[in-house]
Amino acid sequence: MTDLFSEITVRNCRIRNRIVFPAMVVCDLEAPEGKVTPAHLAHYRWVADRGPGLIVTGAMCVSPDGRLNENQLGIWSDQLAEDLTEIPEICHQRGARVLMQIHHAGFRTVPSVSDDPVSSSDYEENGVRARALTAGEIAELREKYVAAAVRAEKAGFDGIELHCAHLYLLDQFFSSAINKRTDEYGGSAANRARFALEILAGIRERTGPDFIISCRMGCNTPDLEDAGEIARLLEQGGADLLDISYSTIPLAQIVDGGGLPVPEGFEHSGFVYGAKGIRDKVNVPVCAVWQIGTREAAQLVSEGFVDFVAVLRGMLVDPDWVSRARAGEEGSRCYDCRPVCRWYSDRNSCPGWQKLDPAVRLQK
Ligand SMILES: Cc1cc2nc3c(=O)[nH]c(=O)nc-3n(C[C@H](O)[C@H](O)[C@H](O)COP(=O)(O)O)c2cc1C
Repeated sequence: MTDLFSEITVRNCRIRNRIVFPAMVVCDLEAPEGKVTPAHLAHYRWVADRGPGLIVTGAMCVSPDGRLNENQLGIWSDQLAEDLTEIPEICHQRGARVLMQIHHAGFRTVPSVSDDPVSSSDYEENGVRARALTAGEIAELREKYVAAAVRAEKAGFDGIELHCAHLYLLDQFFSSAINKRTDEYGGSAANRARFALEILAGIRERTGPDFIISCRMGCNTPDLEDAGEIARLLEQGGADLLDISYSTIPLAQIVDGGGLPVPEGFEHSGFVYGAKGIRDKVNVPVCAVWQIGTREAAQLVSEGFVDFVAVLRGMLVDPDWVSRARAGEEGSRCYDCRPVCRWYSDRNSCPGWQKLDPAVRLQK
C-alpha cells in the first residue's frame, strides 16, 4: 500500500509526498505586463509553507497576446524569466518541487490583450470569436512554448506543466468538438495531439535529462476513451506526469467542473473516475483533482487510484490541510461557491478564507 506521505521519484527528481498544490492564477494580484511582483512571491512562500511535495505555478503565458486575463504572469521574455528565479528558490528552501505551468488561452484570450484571438479552427460561440491558426503560426507558437520551457529550466524550475486542459489553446486542438481542421493537426486523436506532441519533443530536445514535463489534460475530450488515447500519446511523446482535470464542455459549465458521470457505487468524483481511468491506460504517474479531502486523498493513493492528489481550494480554506492529512483528520471544506470561486475576483470574499484567523491569511 502506498502512503500519501511516501516519496516518489519523477525523472530523477525526488518528491517528498504525493500532495500537489495545483496551478492557480492569482487573479486578484496585478502583474504589470506579465511581470512577477513581491505579492506573488509572498503567495508562493505561503503555498510552500503549507507542505505540499509538488507545486505547480499558476498558468504563465507564452505570448503576451494569449493571456487569459490582464493579471496573468508571462514567460515570453528572458527578462520575465529572470524575475521568476525566486519562485523555485522559495519552493526548494521549503522542501517542495516546483513546475511552471505554461499556457496560451486561444479563443479564451481576453479582448483587452488581443483583438485577433486564435484557435485550432474558426470559432464562434456566445459572442466569443477566434480564427484558425495557420500552419506557420502553429510552428511559431510551438517555438514560444519551447522557449518558455527553456527559460523555466534556466530560472531553476524542476520542470514545466503544459496546460492542455480547461478549453485553452492546446485543449482546443485536442477537442474534436472544436478542432475541425483537415490538415495534419485535425481529425484523429494523433493529429489533434500533434501540436502538443511537437511542443513536448522540442522541450525534450532543448532541456536537460532531469527536467520534468507534466501535461494537464482533460478526462473528457469528449469522453474517457478519447482522453485515454491522447494520454497514451503524451506518454509516448515523453510526458513524465499526467495531471488529469477537465476538458471540452460548454464554456458556461466550466466553473461547475463538468467531470465525467460515475458508475453506481463509485464513491469519488467524476474527475477522480477520469484520472483513474487514464491511470489504467498509462505507466507514468497520474494526478487527480477536485475537492479532495484529507482522508479521501490517503485512500486514493493507498488504493492505487492515482499517484498524486492535487488540492487547491482545500488548502486555501484549511492551511493545515497537509498536517491534518498526516494526522488522519478531516479538515474544513471549500464552499465551492457559484457561479465561480471568489479567488477569481477577490480572495477576501471567499467564505472559507474569511473564517481563517487573519494571522494565517496571506494579505494582499
Ligand atoms: C482562482 C483559481 C485559479 C486557477 N488557475 C488555474 C491555472 O492557472 N491553471 C490550471 O490548470 N488550473 C487552474 N485552476 C484550477 C485548479 O488548479 C483546480 O483544478 C481546481 O481548483 C479544482 O481543484 P480543487 O477542488 O482542489 O480546488 C484555478 C482554480 C482557481 C479556483
